[in-house]
Amino acid sequence: MSLAEQSAEFAITPVSDALGAEVVGLDVSQPLDPETLAVIRDAFQEHHMLCFRDQTLADDQLVAFSTQFGPLEVFPEKDHTRDKVEVYHVANVSLDGEQLAEEDPAVIYQRNNGRWHTDSSYRYTPSLASILYGIEVLPDGAEGGETGFSNMLAAYAALPDDMKAKLEPLHQVHSYADIRRLEPGIPPMSVEERDALPPVTHPVIRVHPDRNYQRSLYFTSNTSLEIGGMTLEDGKALHGWLVDYASRPEFCYFHRWRQNDLVMWDNRVLLHRAIEYDVSRYRRVLRRTTVAGDVTIMGPFFPEARATAGG
Ligand code: OGA
Ligand code: MN
Repeated sequence: MSLAEQSAEFAITPVSDALGAEVVGLDVSQPLDPETLAVIRDAFQEHHMLCFRDQTLADDQLVAFSTQFGPLEVFPEKDHTRDKVEVYHVANVSLDGEQLAEEDPAVIYQRNNGRWHTDSSYRYTPSLASILYGIEVLPDGAEGGETGFSNMLAAYAALPDDMKAKLEPLHQVHSYADIRRLEPGIPPMSVEERDALPPVTHPVIRVHPDRNYQRSLYFTSNTSLEIGGMTLEDGKALHGWLVDYASRPEFCYFHRWRQNDLVMWDNRVLLHRAIEYDVSRYRRVLRRTTVAGDVTIMGPFFPEARATAGG
């Protein structure tokens, strides 16, 4: 297939007013030609979430596709990975294909995905994108199992001015060890594991140099609820407000999985969460790669950010 043919054959169609587009007619199991890659990158920047329909990908193809957008992260815990260390197993099914018990730590661990979060925010340099491939998804008519997304650019823009001012100087503590403490039944981390991932703080308002310093909200609810500069109680109350605010329908899109969907989202500007489903009844098998971030998060106090309309 020629370069022109590859890009001429697929269609990119928005899936909601809030965010997201679906890409139909593009096979991503082979390397994308430069022209197509440029179109996909632009669409990703514009829509923040892309769903490539009808993909058939072995793990090494998933990794090869993902690497076109940057180097990949390696998940901190080995027991969630398959033979490729860059591939994270998001499933209630073991690597051997057996459905796991409801109380299996791997299943409990995934309950954390049910809270609004952005992937690997526990890193000093958090991820750019996550890429999730649907291998076994819930049948039609089954309740839950969607992945919800919320647009933090739109959410920031719609904040009342007094809330923008209140949030502006704040940072949140993001801690991998705390993720492990939220759900009872997950074994604690060893001292060595904890030392490898010390807590970090990130600004609650971040600016995006590649978007003319536009601002977005950046927070998580699967780690610590502490917000620097406030009492723990006030920080928790404010965090609770942010969680409710992020759930407003006008910012959200809930993706109902079809078999062989490949969903890629921008962790810099979206939050996401898994919607609960009956883990004892249904099998759900997804595999994820994570494109590493290349810069640390920029807060709103840089002169460049101040000089723009959003500053
Ligand atoms: C993830 C995640 C959501 C889901 O893999 O990072 O949050 O719906 N998954 O499984
Ligand atoms: Mn996640």
